[in-house]
Amino acid sequence: MKTTKDFLKMKQAKEKIAMMTAYDFPASKLAEQAGIDLILVGDSVGMVALGYDSTVPVTLEDMILHTKAVRRGAHDTFVVTDMPFMTYHISDEDTLANAARLIQEAGAHAVKVEGAGDVINRISRLTASGVPVMGHLGLTPQSVGVLGGYKVQGKDSAAAEQLIKDAKKVEEAGAFSLVLECIPKQLTEIVAAELSIPVIGIGAGNAADGQVLVYHDLIGYGVDRVPKFVKQYASISSEITEAIGQYVSEVKAVQFPGDEHSFTMKEEQLAGVYG
Ligand code: KIV
Ligand code: NA
Repeated sequence: MKTTKDFLKMKQAKEKIAMMTAYDFPASKLAEQAGIDLILVGDSVGMVALGYDSTVPVTLEDMILHTKAVRRGAHDTFVVTDMPFMTYHISDEDTLANAARLIQEAGAHAVKVEGAGDVINRISRLTASGVPVMGHLGLTPQSVGVLGGYKVQGKDSAAAEQLIKDAKKVEEAGAFSLVLECIPKQLTEIVAAELSIPVIGIGAGNAADGQVLVYHDLIGYGVDRVPKFVKQYASISSEITEAIGQYVSEVKAVQFPGDEHSFTMKEEQLAGVYG
């Protein structure tokens, strides 16, 4: 299994890191088979798998359930779990207790937290307590209410400068890696050059040290509309609806189940029934 040290070495060797989200057993199993470098149990689970319209309703219990399922599917892959909305803001004690559940009870190898400001101290406390932390700057979906929507961040020089400062603070606080979401590619290039920890981009251009995509977006699974930065490598939804549609027709036409999917008993046994 690759560890935080390996991700650092990959950055130094200019070897790109491929990360994706997974929320369950089959997805993590397939991701590991396909050679993914690390798996994120993202709180995007709330949107793509649970049907919420933001990540805000996702709970710690949700993240524990999904992390356990992911770990059962991927035995040899580093798993990072998102700390959900308001589970790392109330106090240091609360943050540490919540992270402990994700690590000890659910089996995550690291946690991810969004933002800078007060979160910087939480990153220090978590790291000092032995919890590897991934930061997340730029578009931070848990703050969608404050940001006023899902928009590209860091587009003007003041915002870009602030993001660079924040990124440095995330590194100084001890994070082993940083996600940059939905920012101009030139800004990603600056941050990736300024930081020694690997920077993983989503909607942040190809200068990042690695990329992350949401599983359902990547394979086109149950998502109607995807953001500009998503590349869909498959359209699984249409295969699924075709398969289910065919099943429905065959049931109605009594074509399924056929003999090859049915069991039989011996004639003499049948004769004995009610006999
Ligand atoms: O929850 C998630 O999927 C994420 C990635 C987009 C980085 O945080
Ligand atoms: Na997330």
